[in-house]
Amino acid sequence: FIIAEHSGFCFGVQRAIDMAFAEAEKTREGGSTYTCGPLIHNRAVTDYLEQHGVGNIDDLSQAKSGDTVIVRSHGEPKEFYLKAEEMGITLVDTTCVFVAKIHKLVEAANAEGREVVIVGSAVHPEVTATNGWCDYSAAILESEEDALEYVKTEHNRPLVVAQTTFKAEILHSIIDVFDKAGCTYELKNTICNATRDRQQSCAELAAKVDAMVVIGDTHSSNSKKLFEIAKKENKNSIFVQDKFDNQLKEFAKYNKIGVIAGASTPEWIIKEV
Ligand code: F3S
Repeated sequence: FIIAEHSGFCFGVQRAIDMAFAEAEKTREGGSTYTCGPLIHNRAVTDYLEQHGVGNIDDLSQAKSGDTVIVRSHGEPKEFYLKAEEMGITLVDTTCVFVAKIHKLVEAANAEGREVVIVGSAVHPEVTATNGWCDYSAAILESEEDALEYVKTEHNRPLVVAQTTFKAEILHSIIDVFDKAGCTYELKNTICNATRDRQQSCAELAAKVDAMVVIGDTHSSNSKKLFEIAKKENKNSIFVQDKFDNQLKEFAKYNKIGVIAGASTPEWIIKEV
């Protein structure tokens, strides 16, 4: 079998998992350790953390002085850090370096009194966190329609950043609207290539093997997307969650099998499969 070049965790999530697991190994006295929101959308990983005494809270107010809270790779708004300090909570910050860079950009722009535009989904935790680094002053544009609305009023060369996992085509169409409306801006294309690279290597591999196995949690949308891509290139494609999937037995008949895992699939599950 062949494992796709860009399979499984991206660099940022791998780092977050490593840091969280290292934290889980530590025994603490008088304090508990939590993640604030699930670290990733994979039950095996969240179960592992749970078994190692790392609980999950939804809000910082659920923790107390002396506790340790793991900040996810999506990042958190500025006030989260201030509040943690005030409450005597230790933070283990796994914010992806690419996300942290966006925080710096918008914070600096805001300090200079400039407008900020975040191209991304308003309900995504990464976008909410980013907005929290410019006093929640950013205009959040999700679509071409949002951009058309935005350019109706006057703007003074806003700084434009993007959610790291946002679709490049939508960012381009939004920028097109700006250009056509004669709206000047400074664009920092902060879309991360990890998703694009994974999807591309999925399509390439699926096209040259006899059969393709996509490994992911049934709740992981990026894994399901990979399955769609694989299926388009190779009709002998299956989606499995773990080694217990019966479909795998039938696959023994194929000579050359391609394997790819979604962004939230841990290495040990890939190995078992
Ligand atoms: Fe992953 Fe960081 Fe990119 S979390 S998707 S490497 S922005």
